[in-house]
Amino acid sequence: MTVSNGWKVLLIDDEEDIREVVTIALEDAGYTVFSANEGQSGVRLCEEVIPHIVITDIRMPKMDGLQVLETVKKQYPDIEVIVVTAFGEMDLAIRALQLDASDFITKPINDQSLRLALRRARERYTARKALKDYTALLEKEKAQTSRELVRTFTFQKNLIESSMDGILGCDETDTIVIYNRSMAKMLGFKKDIVLNKMSWQQFFAPADVNRLQKNFASEGYGGKNRLYLYETTLVGVDNRKIPVQASAIRLLDQEIDTGLVCFFRDLREIRALEREVEDQARILHQDKMMSLGKLAASVVHEINNPLSGVLNYIRLMTRILRRGPLPDDRREKFMEYLDLVENETDRCSHIVSSLLAFSRKSPPSFGPVQVDELLQRCVALSQHKLKLQNIDLATRIEPGLPEITGDFNQLQQCVINLIFNAIDAMPQGGTLTLEGRCNQVENWVVISVRDTGHGIQPDDLPQIFEPFFTTKKEGYGVGLGLSTIFGIMQRHNGRVDVQSQPGLGATFSLQLPIDAAKLNAQHQNDP
Ligand SMILES: Nc1ncnc2c1ncn2[C@@H]1O[C@H](COP(=O)(O)OP(=O)(O)OP(=O)(O)O)[C@@H](O)[C@H]1O
Ligand SMILES: [Mg+2]
Repeated sequence: MTVSNGWKVLLIDDEEDIREVVTIALEDAGYTVFSANEGQSGVRLCEEVIPHIVITDIRMPKMDGLQVLETVKKQYPDIEVIVVTAFGEMDLAIRALQLDASDFITKPINDQSLRLALRRARERYTARKALKDYTALLEKEKAQTSRELVRTFTFQKNLIESSMDGILGCDETDTIVIYNRSMAKMLGFKKDIVLNKMSWQQFFAPADVNRLQKNFASEGYGGKNRLYLYETTLVGVDNRKIPVQASAIRLLDQEIDTGLVCFFRDLREIRALEREVEDQARILHQDKMMSLGKLAASVVHEINNPLSGVLNYIRLMTRILRRGPLPDDRREKFMEYLDLVENETDRCSHIVSSLLAFSRKSPPSFGPVQVDELLQRCVALSQHKLKLQNIDLATRIEPGLPEITGDFNQLQQCVINLIFNAIDAMPQGGTLTLEGRCNQVENWVVISVRDTGHGIQPDDLPQIFEPFFTTKKEGYGVGLGLSTIFGIMQRHNGRVDVQSQPGLGATFSLQLPIDAAKLNAQHQNDP
């Protein structure tokens, strides 16, 4: 029977005859044979060809077979070594077997014992290789499984850790075994004092614990053993109270309680925001009332003058008429008085309608706005206040300003706010310049209000558009004027800019887009 699957045999023997005979026998049996005539060259050849089996004579000059066996086995433990002993050298054979030789055969070598020894060596070699491959496979699978386990574990841990919601996991005795970063941040207790030491009940006021347990057992909050979007309060470090929205579920394994997992959403920011919105609405209302108050005061003065003029002329004309029919020579003067009365009454009615437009509580309505008309209206509304504070008004309104699209009342409110701020900045009087011009390049209409007042400190500049930022004495400013302007400008796709040098005054400019078609389309989509 031949062996034809590339088995390599290295034969080491100092006797040429034996080498020849054995080589022929092995080659006939299908082995690829390499041979060496002494130990050292045999070992070298072994390193070169890496045979599956080495057959070595025991007794050789210089390096004997036992040394060959030892050297080969040390370097290549997988190679099977068969030693050839002379008859009666049992002690050497035993020594060889102790050194892990796979077998021994005795001289003279007969075919059958050679074949038998080779078969055993092959079987040993194959079995060892299979075992090694299997072990390697097992090792690989083990490594892969543990890598996957570690990956899954790390992923789940990260998932729990990085959740924005606080996550709390308890075992069946309610002891906390999961306590993520958000939870720690919310409560302020460090992980090492919580994990495996505290129970969830310690994070609630006693009354809340009872309520929670009752609700948890009831069907009313998402089912038995569940709480769904349940609002309650956690108690953290230093008795810190945290309003939360909680969801919790009992973990049951075949009806056996194995633990509890809870999710908590911190409601502090939402609550603060709600409070802020409420405050803002309240203060906005107050501010509106204050602005109206200031405006009314200014308008009262504004109307008072023409009214007293009207009253004087009427009294004068009444006196004249009481004296008898109107003489022809006084007729013309009389008409003049009537004209004056008409003019002054007109002025009053203009002011009143401006006031109405300003104060009317109407939703924003976008329409065509004539910028020069807008500015004239603002001038009319603030003239009296300017005069009272000894402020000169210079208006520079470019003729033929293009029409823009916007809410007239809101834009008027912007300009008035700027004018009033400018007036406040010039308690000793000064000059207010109101300008309206067109920037053809950028397609803007620019309205600017410049004053020669105290200006704005560089430190204040970044904050002036923030709601409630004011440098005015209590009762004199709420700090909502500029933030209102900012909001209105945004709605108009416009901008508000400021330039100021402390001590020299400030210039505020409103830039409004001319592209009406675009704006129209946009605001039709507004809610
Ligand atoms: N023309 C200006 N010159 C100097 N400082 C100004 C001028 N306009 C605004 N400021 C500064 O910006 C701050 C904020 O102005 P804003 O109009 O928002 O509020 P306010 O005038 O203080 O109060 P409110 O307008 O609500 O009555 C002012 O308090 C002031 O410090
Ligand atoms: Mg203001």
